[in-house]
Amino acid sequence: MTAVIDLRSDTVTRPGPAMREAMATAVVGDDVIGDDPTVKALEEAAAAAVGKESALFVPSGTMANLLALLTHCGRGDEAIVGSESHILHHEGVGAPALGGVSLRSVPNDERGHIETAEVTAAIRGGSPRTTVVCLENTQNRRGGAAIPVSEMRQIAEAAHAAGASLHVDGARIFNAAAALETDAKTLLADADTVSFCFSKGLGAPVGSVLTGSSDFIERARPTRRQLGGGMRQSGILAAAALYALEHHVERLSEDQANAKRLAEGLASIPGLVVDPDTVDTNMVFVRFDGIDGIAFTAALAERGVLASAPVPGSLRMVTHLDVNAAGIEEAIVQSASAAESLANA
Ligand SMILES: Cc1ncc(COP(=O)(O)O)c(C=O)c1O
Repeated sequence: MTAVIDLRSDTVTRPGPAMREAMATAVVGDDVIGDDPTVKALEEAAAAAVGKESALFVPSGTMANLLALLTHCGRGDEAIVGSESHILHHEGVGAPALGGVSLRSVPNDERGHIETAEVTAAIRGGSPRTTVVCLENTQNRRGGAAIPVSEMRQIAEAAHAAGASLHVDGARIFNAAAALETDAKTLLADADTVSFCFSKGLGAPVGSVLTGSSDFIERARPTRRQLGGGMRQSGILAAAALYALEHHVERLSEDQANAKRLAEGLASIPGLVVDPDTVDTNMVFVRFDGIDGIAFTAALAERGVLASAPVPGSLRMVTHLDVNAAGIEEAIVQSASAAESLANA
């Protein structure tokens, strides 16, 4: 069998030789004491990349979002989240469990959009009190949809008018910026805090950041320690993240072109339902017509192509820097073979 083409997620990438070299030669210190120069350099570069004053390096996107909520909200306060948000579905109800924060959801439509009026109607000023509105961009469970700056701005204005802050879960914010042909700073201009991940499309092995004002980040710092997110010679990891930020942002448009091509190829296969027009970034969601999705995923895996199913009834393929255009063509060929084997079964 040929090498596995792993399209389960953009989190599966492995660091290449140059990234490993950057890790091996990183100057490190003890970041809990505050003297790891590589972590500091990463935090500065990360804050600058999204137009915020300050940043805090954390092990995961989940911790970055949790830290944001625990810093924006006191016990009994409320955070508004999208009905299809990662925070609501995939982060182990961390903020309610650990911080006594209530999560109130507003609907994400099929393309991930949230109506500003829904946010305004959901914000509460008494008890509970809404202290933060969270937006996700790109919208993972809605096909990796990119949410435009106009929508971000309107929702920010609604939040601010009611005295709440806007937090953006920007795990894949650079994919969104590439799709919208803008830069992350412009896209995030109205956000008070932003989390983003190095370990997804950017291709680092570990790590995310929470960014915001210097005051906010200094308030978040002791909470990171409480959560067990204080790391010591984490410059080794920060070096990989810094390499990713410097070398892997511009190339995200390649992944997105590959995702488009993948969607177009899959759309022509009988039994697979894909709309290439809904592919904004690096995710392709496939539904089925007359084929069992679980059997298809298994048949595809037997043919060396891995996909996952984070949303029931659909299969997801995510492009990333470890799969090139030739790999995408191979994935299309193998998908056709898998679908045909089931149609003839
Ligand atoms: C939109 C979004 N936010 C947050 C996360 C959490 O990141 P991590 O897996 O690093 O905790 C993910 C992970 O896939 C994500 O897709």
